[in-house]
Amino acid sequence: MLGVEGLSRRFGGIYAVREVRLQVEQGELRGVLGPNGAGKSTLFHLIAGQLSPDSGSVRLRGEAIDRLGPARRAEAGIAIVYQNDRIFRGMTLRENVMVGAHSRASHGFFAAALRTPRFRKEERELAATADAVLDEVGLGGQADQLADSLPLGQQRSLQLARALAAAPSVLLLDEPASGLRTGERQRFAATLQKLRSRGVAILWIEHDVRLVTSLADRITVLDLGSVLAEGTPSEIRAHPGVIAAYLGGPEEALD
Ligand SMILES: Nc1ncnc2c1ncn2[C@@H]1O[C@H](COP(=O)(O)OP(=O)(O)O)[C@@H](O)[C@H]1O
Ligand SMILES: [Mg+2]
Repeated sequence: MLGVEGLSRRFGGIYAVREVRLQVEQGELRGVLGPNGAGKSTLFHLIAGQLSPDSGSVRLRGEAIDRLGPARRAEAGIAIVYQNDRIFRGMTLRENVMVGAHSRASHGFFAAALRTPRFRKEERELAATADAVLDEVGLGGQADQLADSLPLGQQRSLQLARALAAAPSVLLLDEPASGLRTGERQRFAATLQKLRSRGVAILWIEHDVRLVTSLADRITVLDLGSVLAEGTPSEIRAHPGVIAAYLGGPEEALD
């Protein structure tokens, strides 16, 4: 589904991402680990198109997408969820999901202003999609509730629902569970696990090594911009390079 070949990006002569090679299958939950500054966020920005690489290539379903900007990549099926994505207060959860989906709907400004029949039909379809994705992330009963007082764990689920409304093929999540309490983290992670059955390829940057190694199908470990290790959770735990680089083993040190 997603292929990254020899991807490199430097800032001021220093490699943030160096010769990264990565293949993520449809329906795979891929954990991405690495200490601060390892290049995780930069890799995501290169995949989503917010940054251009110095060299290398990104492929979606086998096709190079290097010439597409971020908006075109989003249309092509790459969604990225940031920790600090805005939630709109004073709007319901359904409206929060629809705001994102609106920019992709085909109607123009005049159709919306005049509330033409076609606009109203699209509006109904968007609402139905919003309800379906809210259901999928465990917020099904709360579509009409205002987003204002949503606990942090549910805010993250709402951000996830918003990304899912675009029916992405690839979902990039930059530390979506940070700041959540243990129970919330478990619930959020279980939702991610469930999404695999949708066939989405998920790349999940996560600091909680225990959580990743218990849920991911495969894990990529980045260090100083390069892939230090790649494999199943048990392979990663036993990987000599990972253990050597992070004294005391990944549990303690991979932060
Ligand atoms: N826009 C930028 N300008 C300069 N240096 C950057 C920029 N973005 C990232 N870096 C540097 O690239 C390296 C990787 O950063 P980043 O991708 O944010 O790592 P991570 O997400 O793994 O913590 C760091 O050394 C960081 O300082
Ligand atoms: Mg980061």
